[in-house]
Amino acid sequence: MCGIVGYIGNKSLDSVLLVGLKKLEYRGYDSAGIAILNNDEISIRKSKGKIISLEEKLDAKGFDGHAGIGHTRWATHGEPSTKNAHPHTNSTGSIAVVHNGIIENYVELKNMLSEKGYVFVSETDTETIPHLIDSEIQSGKDVKQAFYDAIQKLEGKFAIAMICEIEPDRIYFARNGAPLIAAFGKKSASESFLASDLPAIIPLAKEVTYLKDGDWGYIQAGTLEIYQGEKKYENIKIEPILIKEEEVNKGDYAHFMLKEIYEQPDIMQKIIDQRIDSNNRIFFNEMLFQNDYLSKIGRVIIQACGTSLNAGLIGKLYLENFCKLTTDADFSSEFRYRNPVIGGDTLVVGISQSGETADTLAGIHEAKAKFLKVLSFVNNNNSSIARESNAVIDLMAGPEIGVASTKAYTSEVLSLFLFSIYMSAIRWVLPKEEKKQLLDEIKSLPSQIASILKNLEPIQEISNYLKDVSSALFLGRTYNYASALEGALKLKEISYIHASGYAGGEFKHGPIALISEEVPSIVIVPQGEIRKKTISNLLEVRARKGKIISIITKGDDEVKDISDFFVEIPELSEPLSPLLTAIPMQLIAYFTAVYRGCDVDKPRNLAKSVTVE
Ligand code: M6R
Repeated sequence: MCGIVGYIGNKSLDSVLLVGLKKLEYRGYDSAGIAILNNDEISIRKSKGKIISLEEKLDAKGFDGHAGIGHTRWATHGEPSTKNAHPHTNSTGSIAVVHNGIIENYVELKNMLSEKGYVFVSETDTETIPHLIDSEIQSGKDVKQAFYDAIQKLEGKFAIAMICEIEPDRIYFARNGAPLIAAFGKKSASESFLASDLPAIIPLAKEVTYLKDGDWGYIQAGTLEIYQGEKKYENIKIEPILIKEEEVNKGDYAHFMLKEIYEQPDIMQKIIDQRIDSNNRIFFNEMLFQNDYLSKIGRVIIQACGTSLNAGLIGKLYLENFCKLTTDADFSSEFRYRNPVIGGDTLVVGISQSGETADTLAGIHEAKAKFLKVLSFVNNNNSSIARESNAVIDLMAGPEIGVASTKAYTSEVLSLFLFSIYMSAIRWVLPKEEKKQLLDEIKSLPSQIASILKNLEPIQEISNYLKDVSSALFLGRTYNYASALEGALKLKEISYIHASGYAGGEFKHGPIALISEEVPSIVIVPQGEIRKKTISNLLEVRARKGKIISIITKGDDEVKDISDFFVEIPELSEPLSPLLTAIPMQLIAYFTAVYRGCDVDKPRNLAKSVTVE
């Protein structure tokens, strides 16, 4: 949700910032801008739309310097436009600021500043910041003190970077509730970076420090100072950057989403190899909870958003069925505000790919305010959610750039499955034989996913049909009810076709009214206990002339015969089947969006990491 990048050093500034912004475009892409300092003077270029439109404005010669900041925006206050694009400046243009987050008291600040004569040119909350810093400087403070005093007056969430003509060799920054990192290039390069996320500065940056909430300070070429309040950090933890360039590039794939779909066999293998040993013992070495605590948990509440919640709904069934643990799964945004009755023996589980989702983070704060312990499943161990949880499980999916979550989803489901088996051993619930059977089965998952990925023909045929529909329904039961929700979410978010997921049994209680020749149903019918019941749902659709696309276990001729289209998946027991049924649905969404000419990696109105509530 907005991306920030800052650079101070000898490299061509517009290209470092531009490359950085392109890598951050997944965080928001409705407008973009860059401010640079050259000969103690700030110049700015901004543009509405994606970074490519900004790039066209940078061709003019002379737009370079030694320090600069850039921003890619996901609009909160004020429509996407050049006027509202960041960086924002004070009236003389001597201070430029980029900001990710929301300044909640901006109306009060704006009124106060307007009374002092400050004139606002945009509709953003951000514009208050350069004016506020300016007013502090006008009152006689130096830039450092003015910056600090200004950020003390801001309420809300922010990551901020600021350049100022009076101190041209520094880029000031502050972090409070929105991600920000500071980094350095090769020792010889004498350069420093700021960014919302690592991909923006790979491969140039070699070492990183992850800023914490309340941190502020400045970078200079090759160095930095960080403060927490008025206290300067004496020892700053600086770590090597381990992510490789190929992990944050598309390679030969047309889109990040497709690359990430195809990474799934390897990621599943990695998780299996690291979590399960040859004696079928499961390990979560990074997770700090002791068995004694885990054995006494009386209830679990999973709270997450979007795709992560869909994974959580499957996790709920795992914990209930394998551990006999009462488990709820809730939208973070509802959990946070509905003031649930929760006993002290409840474990709150957060699930988040980014680790920065504001709703999920707020849910964690709510849990902690109730003195509950929090376990989070995250794909970024340095994220806010990871830091604020009592214990963390690493999803090990690697950077996910496509806005539509794919590999993080299957990593979440697999990690939740393994965690529930781990818990069941501590709580002595699952019979040994059943555990062995499930773990033996899961070892074939990577090759089974790979086999689905090799057979694109039926999937592309379905997508070719779907590209012309305006509405689609997804049906599934028990473990695959969440798969239906996830399939619908994938299709609607990247192809803009209206899609809803329903529990198969619930379908006849209302949604069936939607069925017509123009509204197809994608029905998930793996083998298992609920297959027969799901076939009944399928027949209900058929009887009303609805088109049927089924996802079936290989060789299920009965369902093939009553389907207009079908995709076969290998056989896997029902609880594990969502890990396979997800793959054709991801691909169907992908190809449908491509055939409709949609921007798959950057769907309209969305951002990868939703850092506002
Ligand atoms: O980073 P998180 O897992 O917390 O993100 C949660 C949702 O915003 C995310 O899953 C969203 O629904 C995706 N666009 C779905 O593909």
